[in-house]
Amino acid sequence: MLLKKVHQEVDVLGKKVAVITGASRGIGLEMAKELAAREYKVIMACRDKEKAACLAGEMINNQRTLDVEVLTVNMASLQSIKAFCVKFTGMHNRLDVLLNNAGVFCDRLQRTEDGFEMTMGVNYLGPFFMTRLLLPALQNAPAARVINVVSKAAFHAKLKLNDQLFTADTHGFKAYAASKLAQILFTIDLAEELKGTGVTVNAAYPGRVATDIWKGSSLLMKVVAPVMMRNSISAAEGAKTGIFLAASPELEGVSGKLYYFEDILEYNQACLDEQLRKKLMMRSFDAVNLPQPASLTQP
Ligand SMILES: NC(=O)c1ccc[n+]([C@@H]2O[C@H](COP(=O)([O-])OP(=O)(O)OC[C@H]3O[C@@H](n4cnc5c(N)ncnc54)[C@H](OP(=O)(O)O)[C@@H]3O)[C@@H](O)[C@H]2O)c1
Repeated sequence: MLLKKVHQEVDVLGKKVAVITGASRGIGLEMAKELAAREYKVIMACRDKEKAACLAGEMINNQRTLDVEVLTVNMASLQSIKAFCVKFTGMHNRLDVLLNNAGVFCDRLQRTEDGFEMTMGVNYLGPFFMTRLLLPALQNAPAARVINVVSKAAFHAKLKLNDQLFTADTHGFKAYAASKLAQILFTIDLAEELKGTGVTVNAAYPGRVATDIWKGSSLLMKVVAPVMMRNSISAAEGAKTGIFLAASPELEGVSGKLYYFEDILEYNQACLDEQLRKKLMMRSFDAVNLPQPASLTQP
């Protein structure tokens, strides 16, 4: 109770609160460091508490004034995401920045705790569910920002709206691209839904970044990963687009866009397919067992 009061007073005192999923390495860790250095209160939303606590400790040891906290979440479990959101809203009265960054590339078929194909589950359905649950906290902030970390792989994706939309026996590039297209469609849809509320929603393409996401056990990834790494930017460079979207004053009110560094990227046809988007949203609410908003149910 006392802890809750202290945290709420800190929020009231004015530090912006940022939640970053997948902040335990790669792009997420670099975004956490940079936002903490810019005096945000950073919540590292990670599945490995010890590893994240160690990293947070290192950051604070390097600069005592940084405000970094770790809250555990497994993005491959709806139950874990729900528990995270309950804990977060119990400790903080508002959320200024939500960086949906955690992501996977799976070179073999895996399933989430809820039976979804892992890439779809972690990259899209998990963040979809978390964002919906955190909407009240986002709406409590004066001008909150949701940022979905996506990929241009989305431009080559096919989303099959059949019974196996989230559970197909798929993986690899196909599943990765489909999950990233789903994230973009979600970005556009939520931006539209939240127009005029003060909450903006944008997508960040970080570029091709040298991180462990491409490390796999398959022969293909063992060959492809080193090639991709050679032509990639660093994680710190890759973090720049997300940071720009999270913190740049010039983006106030800008919503529904896709950025690469400070430039807007044009969406392709699939991203702008309204029917596909609405159907995907309906299926997503059903999949995570949340009621559909009026904007979807009304003709
Ligand atoms: N690298 C690129 O070239 C590139 C390009 C375009 C878009 N992106 C996107 O950028 C984002 C970050 O990727 P990255 O390259 O920085 O990858 P990364 O270094 O592999 O980091 C992925 C992060 O996601 C976390 N994560 C994975 N599964 C999780 C789960 N079930 N629950 C909670 N956290 C989980 C990892 O946590 P652990 O440390 O616990 O494993 C890690 O912190 C992803 O969404 C990716 O799709 C990357």
